[in-house]
Formats: sequence, structure tokens, C-alpha cells
Amino acid sequence: MFSVNEIEKMDYNQLIGVVRETNRPPGGMRSIAQIARHGFLSRDSHVLEIGTSTGITAVELAKLVGCRITAIDINEESLVEARRRAEAAGVAHLITFERKDATDTGYPSGHFDMVFCGNVTSLIPDRDKALTEYTRVLKTGGFIGAIPMYYIDVPSDQLVADVRAAIQVDITPLYRDFWIDFFVGADRHEYWLQDYRFDAVPADEVDRFVDDILRRPHLDQLDDDARELLGKRYREQMQLFRVNLSHMGFTTLLVRKEPTDVEPELFTSTAL
Ligand SMILES: C[S@@+](CC[C@H](N)C(=O)[O-])C[C@H]1O[C@@H](n2cnc3c(N)ncnc32)[C@H](O)[C@@H]1O
Repeated sequence: MFSVNEIEKMDYNQLIGVVRETNRPPGGMRSIAQIARHGFLSRDSHVLEIGTSTGITAVELAKLVGCRITAIDINEESLVEARRRAEAAGVAHLITFERKDATDTGYPSGHFDMVFCGNVTSLIPDRDKALTEYTRVLKTGGFIGAIPMYYIDVPSDQLVADVRAAIQVDITPLYRDFWIDFFVGADRHEYWLQDYRFDAVPADEVDRFVDDILRRPHLDQLDDDARELLGKRYREQMQLFRVNLSHMGFTTLLVRKEPTDVEPELFTSTAL
């Protein structure tokens, strides 16, 4: 399977592909249901999912709605697991998994009813190019469903440096308004949103979760050394994310692609 050397070099996204963790979008199934409901997905819809990882969103949308989904990721290891899960769930006929980069998908313009990008865009170095591509492939009147994560409490420099090293992406701490301003633009109108904060999860709960994952039978194929290193690295990363997420929240957001011929809503309102 993988050598010690290969596991040593893997970033977080590659490690979760190896352990086959279910990599959910922020807010998990609740977020997927909200995006489907508020974005009016139906059996006739065609969704492009960006950064599907092990496929949970694509599989859940297929089960919930029965729509067609094209799901892309740059990590082949995760796509192999995503295809296996779609088969096991009996929805493989509705989903096409493809290895593609979000910034250059090659799909026709105006093709999809929704582009769902979860929290993936923050991991893409050229995020403006990615957003331009999401907008290009979307039909007029279609939705971008995004769930950007951001800091609510200011993190220490050390925490930011540790997260940077773990995900091997040069992140800078960003806050809610940055992401709303990023997704909402001239031809992308804010349609629906809801804000959340992550719950505090105790360290021993994370350890128990990691122990369960590391008992997965497919990992028996690894040499003892490789397995030990995988366990150590995966546990360290999950404990780091526990601390990091305790500073963070996210917004479940739908923006709608519309030509800019309507003045903005002046007398806005907020639910009480
Ligand atoms: C944190 S996981 C996604 C989890 C979940 N699907 C979500 O909605 O947040 C991020 C995924 O994005 C993929 N990814 C990163 N850069 C990408 C890019 N440029 N194009 C497509 N996928 C990318 C990674 O390989 C990884 O599987």
C-alpha cells in the first residue's frame, strides 16, 4: 500500500484519503440538506461538486434528491473511495467522479444548476480563478452553495503556523465578512445564509474517534512502521484541528447567478 516515506510526505487531505475518513462539509448532513432545500434542487437538477473528497456530499445529494452530480477532486485516492461509496449506496448511476482542478474544469459554460463548493475554496491558492470558473459553468439563475469556514476568535501565530504545516496550504486567518464579500459580486447575489460556530469537542472524544478509524481493516495491508506513522500523524492532525475549530465558525451560503439589472434590496430584514 504506502511506505513510511510516502506517509511522511502526505498532507491532511491525502491522509484522510488513506484512512478513508468521511470528510464532511462544515455542518455535515444538516448543511447538505439546507443547500438542497434552499437551492431548490430537484431530480432534474445537475450539480457540480468541487473537492468531493470521499464523496459524502455527492452521495447524500443523490440519495436525498435523486439529482445528477458531477463531482471533482484533484486527489485520486479519495475519488477511488468516493466511487466505492456511491456503489455501496446504490447511487453510482447518478454520479460521475472525475479528477479535475476546480480552477480549470473544462465543462461547458452555463451547464450546471448548482455548483457546491463546501469549504474547499479556502484551500485553493488561486481562489479568484476558482470562483470565476464556478460562475462560468453555472446556468443563469443557478446557485453557488458554499460553506466557508473562518475564525471568530483571533488565533495565535503558532496555531496558524501549525495548521499551515498540516494542510500544506499557505493560509492567512480570514473572518466572516471576507468570505461573504468574496462570494457575493456583480453577477452573484446573496440569496440565503445562516451562520454557525463549531462546538467545543473534548480531546478524549477525538482520541476515541481516531482509535476507531485506525482499526479499519484495509489498514492491515500497511507495514507496521507505516501504520504506526499513519496513526501518529493522523492523531496529531485531528487534535490540532480540535483546537483550531474551537476558534472558528462557518456560514452556509447560497449566492445566485443573475445579470445585474436589479437595484440592491434597501430595506433588508433579519429573523428574530
Ligand atoms: C476538506 S476536503 C472537502 C470536504 C468537503 N467535501 C467540503 O465540502 O468541505 C477538500 C478537498 O478539496 C480537494 N481540492 C483541493 N484543491 C482542489 C482543487 N484545486 N480542485 C479540486 N479539488 C481540490 C482536496 O483534494 C480535498 O479532497
